[in-house]
Amino acid sequence: MFTLRDFKPYGESGIQLELESIKKIYGGYSNVYDALFKRFFYPRIKHAITYMEIKPGDRILDVGVGTGLSFSVFPRHCKIVGIDLSTEMLGKAKEKIRENNLDNINLLSMDAMCAGFKDDSFDTVFISHVVSVVPDPYKLMEEVRRVCRKGGQVVIVNHFKSRNKVVEAVEKIINPVCKRIGWRSDMCLNEFINRSGLRVEKKYMLKKLDFWHILFATNVK
Ligand SMILES: C[S@@+](CC[C@H](N)C(=O)[O-])C[C@H]1O[C@@H](n2cnc3c(N)ncnc32)[C@H](O)[C@@H]1O
Repeated sequence: MFTLRDFKPYGESGIQLELESIKKIYGGYSNVYDALFKRFFYPRIKHAITYMEIKPGDRILDVGVGTGLSFSVFPRHCKIVGIDLSTEMLGKAKEKIRENNLDNINLLSMDAMCAGFKDDSFDTVFISHVVSVVPDPYKLMEEVRRVCRKGGQVVIVNHFKSRNKVVEAVEKIINPVCKRIGWRSDMCLNEFINRSGLRVEKKYMLKKLDFWHILFATNVK
């Protein structure tokens, strides 16, 4: 269902070190991830996928698929490829595939900032709780735009810093701690939208005071 291109890992050692650290952090979370995070993350994952336009046979890339919290929501008539850096997180996702006979889902161990797919390999790309985890979100978005076909959907669920000045100040203070436990808390939504190169059609939060935004965008090339 997809063809891999020649894989060219970048040699920037700073990024490489950060990737190793992210792998270790999420490897450590893998056994407790669903118990700790499902209740916060799943409602937005469910909402975002439910409102995607998914046609039978659509090719979907789930970036940073983690333990596969999204699997129970995707319709069986689409073909999904989940990629992740952490083999332990992928191991948990594999268990869900086996237990539920999800033969429409394939998993690959891969760095999403340097993806091994050919251009235009996917109709839709789903990125939940990953944009503020990767070392370089704009490198990630460059890859997402490359592997998604022109006019395809890119759907993002992510935390962005608050517009409330007090909350924003707190998010800035706790950012070094957040980075140590696996994500950044100081990403600016407008800057992300401007620099990602996507055409954002809808952006909203599920609740008035929420930590996570949902973005529906079209891939323009
Ligand atoms: C917070 S979890 C989100 C998992 C899932 N998408 C969810 O919403 O529950 C972040 C995931 O991104 C993965 N990840 C981080 N950096 C990555 C990269 N450069 N390439 C692929 N996966 C990455 C981590 O290993 C982890 O599984």
